Amino acid sequence: VPVSIYSDSEQASVAVAQQIADLIRQRHGEGRPCVLGLATGSSPTRVYEELVRMHREEGLSFRNVITFNLDEYYPMQPDSLQSYVRFMHEYLFDHVDIPAENIHIPNGTIRQEEVAEYCRRYEADIEEAGGIDLQLLGIGRTGHIGFNEPGSGASSRTRLITLDHITRTDAASDFYGEENVPRRALTMGVGTILEARQIVLMAWGEGKAAVIKRMVEGEPTDSVPATYLQRHPAVQVVLDEAAAAELS
Ligand code: F6R
Repeated sequence: VPVSIYSDSEQASVAVAQQIADLIRQRHGEGRPCVLGLATGSSPTRVYEELVRMHREEGLSFRNVITFNLDEYYPMQPDSLQSYVRFMHEYLFDHVDIPAENIHIPNGTIRQEEVAEYCRRYEADIEEAGGIDLQLLGIGRTGHIGFNEPGSGASSRTRLITLDHITRTDAASDFYGEENVPRRALTMGVGTILEARQIVLMAWGEGKAAVIKRMVEGEPTDSVPATYLQRHPAVQVVLDEAAAAELS
């Protein structure tokens, strides 16, 4: 897997944002939409801030951009503090010219009986948009991508999953206590993610060093779902020095 190591997450994030901006402009030049798969959490925030800066200062337009977010807690109200809908609006969508109808984020209010059909529709919407051009990913300490926790297979699709205990511990501070973290989430599957034309996985800090080593150097296994990215022909792993510290 190609790995790029930057001295800090700031420089790495600016480089990733530049790559996304280039793709948006290239697609615009071709008269086609640019379909982005997006992640939430701490890893991509600086990328989104840089994209907002480029929109304001360099005229980068999002009029031709269509987005699909990876995941959302379940259940989750969109106006909750912790919702990924709120996160995406705060960091990106409220500050750029993306048409509202181009934004897709899994709906954490869907009724349980309707989840399966809803997830099929989410996948169909990705296909109808032409498939994802570039998928941004973070990685959880469990080895999850999206919320594909250990046990998620390489061909898993968009579905409702149960969050790992470690993931709920990591989210505890956002929810003012682990007991308030939802037990489940909607997530694109590993198979869905692997269909993106390009994938950029970002990880910062020493807390990610161990899982990055397993992801990059370990055998593909469903106990670390991120290892399945090794099978993708156009994946890049973008790290700061701390996250790269355990690579041999
Ligand atoms: C979020 C997502 C998760 C996070 C991962 C890392 O949409 O899909 O896989 O990317 O949990 O989170 P951070 O970046 O907060 O360390």
